[in-house]
Amino acid sequence: MSFKDKVVYQIYPKSFADSNGDGFGDIQGVISKLDYLKELGIDYIWFNPMTISPQRDGGYDVANYREFDPRYGTMEDFEELSRECAKRNINIMFDMVFNHTSTEHEWFKKAMAGDEYYKNFYIFKKGKAKGVPPTNWQSKFGGSAWEYVERYDEWYLHLFDVTQADLNWENPAVREEMAKIINYWRDKGVHGFRFDVINLISKRGYEDDPNNFDGRQFYTDGPRVHEYLKELNKRSFGQDTDGLTVGELSSATLENVYHYSGEDQHELNTVFTFHHLKVDYKDKKKWHVQPFDFHELKDLFITWQEGLQEHDSWPALFWNCHDQPRSLSRFGDDKNYPLESGKMLATAIHMMRGVPYIYMGEEIGMTNGNFKTLDEYRDVESLNAYKILKKKGMSEEEVMHALSCHSRDNARTPICWDDSENAGFTDGTPWIRVNPNYKDINVKKALADKNSLFYHYQKLIKLRKTYKVIQEGKFVPLLKDDDAIFAYKRETDDEELIVINNFYGKEAKAHIDLNGDYTILLSNYKDTEITEDLDLRPYESYILYRQR
Ligand code: GLC
Repeated sequence: MSFKDKVVYQIYPKSFADSNGDGFGDIQGVISKLDYLKELGIDYIWFNPMTISPQRDGGYDVANYREFDPRYGTMEDFEELSRECAKRNINIMFDMVFNHTSTEHEWFKKAMAGDEYYKNFYIFKKGKAKGVPPTNWQSKFGGSAWEYVERYDEWYLHLFDVTQADLNWENPAVREEMAKIINYWRDKGVHGFRFDVINLISKRGYEDDPNNFDGRQFYTDGPRVHEYLKELNKRSFGQDTDGLTVGELSSATLENVYHYSGEDQHELNTVFTFHHLKVDYKDKKKWHVQPFDFHELKDLFITWQEGLQEHDSWPALFWNCHDQPRSLSRFGDDKNYPLESGKMLATAIHMMRGVPYIYMGEEIGMTNGNFKTLDEYRDVESLNAYKILKKKGMSEEEVMHALSCHSRDNARTPICWDDSENAGFTDGTPWIRVNPNYKDINVKKALADKNSLFYHYQKLIKLRKTYKVIQEGKFVPLLKDDDAIFAYKRETDDEELIVINNFYGKEAKAHIDLNGDYTILLSNYKDTEITEDLDLRPYESYILYRQR
């Protein structure tokens, strides 16, 4: 079974649907909404981690890889979910957080208690001098990437939070445990796997970053990463013929990506990369916000689409996830053209070559969280950033602005189901504030309006299932230098698709060459005309099709 006609829907379980009034979403909540997802037409649900975790980092600090955190439910709940999904032809994708564990994991606890076997599951190193960490590497959530442990007079590595200790993949026992965990979930019927920051698992050496940068050159796409993935594939998910895997790659280069998701590489089916979501970082710094650079965005799409297809390698296609602000607020216009720009963004990404992902709420046009005060934020990265940026001299206003644009919490507010209290998400107190615009933007309203964004997504999914050219066609960029339009062609021997997207809220003119009789498969304006001389309205976007 190929993955090329599949579409994945991402659920951040904490914020999806709460069935028991504790303010956290849970598995029963998901079960109650499966018909909604069936209506949308998706094939897979990717769940962010739901196993036991102290939740310092939203479950990415795993304390147990096999047991559900009771706030989400029990194994029986999961089995019910799995049956209910199967009835609707929906597959389950789980998140495997294998670069690190929580310091609450029993392996780490044993390591700290003096057990050498488990100490070797982690990366402990001597400091350069008393009180000086082994290297100058920075944690991705701010501060040093090393934490001192008195018992050993050594430091352990944590590329993320101090409670997320990096695993030592050089140790074959670690690799074996990882394969066993995947096989445990395969036995329970899970055949989709997302691998968290998987290109960080092989470290290149432990030296100071000479550029005084964060050290990423020493652990990104490290020397043994492909060997490890091939081994894992062989021992576990590679034995499934009908699965779907995706690796989350942090700062990976195109050359390396070929290998991770090359069809003949036997590593992963697809990969997430994030370069296109950094085009509104000033000087590549996340907390220095600038309007997005359209040319950079377009160049990145083109370079990666072409580069991967040349090597039979496959990307995941996405604007949103639990780590990114909402695309409608970021690349569209959530005030003046929410519907037009929402549809345009969806079309632009869904018609490319790869596997599209929809992040919960994206399909109804949810916007950034509209947080006003620091105490409304929950994310460890945002709370750390606040302290660090203030210390560096940024004003309160600037810091709050940066958070309101780029905090991960923008995506983590509960999905708005209707216009009742707490947007129908919970009867209790939500763990994070509900977006105040829920009366306008909610599922109930979207389902009641045949012209809504929801139905646009539904159509895009149907198109992918209907047309081979969307699944497999060659990507060819059009109007490469245009300042407002992102256009491309997809083609096979028998079919041709042209996708045209105006990325701005003003008219855009350009010329394209058409050969033959086209039909319009989908448009975000009612009266779109097929013409070579484009005169696009704000955020206008449409798909032309012809048989060759
Ligand atoms: C990934 C996750 C993110 C998490 C990090 C550390 O980037 O998507 O949410 O904080 O890895 O596990």
